[in-house]
Amino acid sequence: MIVLTTVADMVKARDLAVRPLGLVPTMGYLHEGHLTLARQARQETRTVVASIFVNPTQFGPAEDFASYPRDMERDLTMLRSEGVDIVFAPTVDEMYPKGYSTYVDVEGVTKPLEGARRPGHFQGVATVVAKLFTIVRPDRSYFGQKDGQQVAVVKRMTLDLNLGTEIIVVRTVREPDGLAMSSRNVYLTPAERRAAPVLYLALCRVRELWQQGQRDAEAMRQEMVRLITSEPLAQVDYVSIAAATTLEELAQVNGPAMVSLAVRFGRTHLIDNISLP
Ligand code: PAF
Repeated sequence: MIVLTTVADMVKARDLAVRPLGLVPTMGYLHEGHLTLARQARQETRTVVASIFVNPTQFGPAEDFASYPRDMERDLTMLRSEGVDIVFAPTVDEMYPKGYSTYVDVEGVTKPLEGARRPGHFQGVATVVAKLFTIVRPDRSYFGQKDGQQVAVVKRMTLDLNLGTEIIVVRTVREPDGLAMSSRNVYLTPAERRAAPVLYLALCRVRELWQQGQRDAEAMRQEMVRLITSEPLAQVDYVSIAAATTLEELAQVNGPAMVSLAVRFGRTHLIDNISLP
């Protein structure tokens, strides 16, 4: 496995790489969810590139960019054992040199949910992902379903800007009690960690109602809120049942939908989602 830190070296390596090339973009502090992406890329492509870059432009001024968990040595050991070929780990100055002025704005799908809660977040995500696609030129790019809105944004951008990479969406990896794996789970206190599976419980309840024939989205949103607020440490940021590609809220669930929610435990925000059907 080679570790590259400059754009110039990454461009040289991608030009020499055996195709197809798979990209696994990450912000590091890896967990089983990321490794699942790397494993699938390893199975489906000849050259696997993983990027590790804590992207400052997707963090708001009051967010945790400085304190975001980082452990490069551990990340490299994990990626090596998954058979990753190249790690691209640029510095902030390498990605955003002095004078940097170009940002990617995806309309529509970036506005609700996390976009409303974290203004500017998806502009930062779209910008860095567009840069990674341009630098690495992957044939396939692997993203986790856990960040469902991010997937919708990246798909829209890739289509709109003809970025020429296939977006592969990989199922959410969960702890045994259902909590979706996330680098931010380390922020939870022991009591919050015990309460956190309520997110998945609420999502599973919606799936159950839908399987029983319920199609009224508002009734299902109310049931999610009821379940989450029964957990005293949990504060609901939003619950949503939206059309899968546009993320517009639905009145009736008659086609592909994303059921998602954001819940705060103390200072930690957790998000999760499932797809219907
Ligand atoms: O999902 C993430 O870890 C990040 O948003 C991504 C896609 C690596 C862009 O910084």
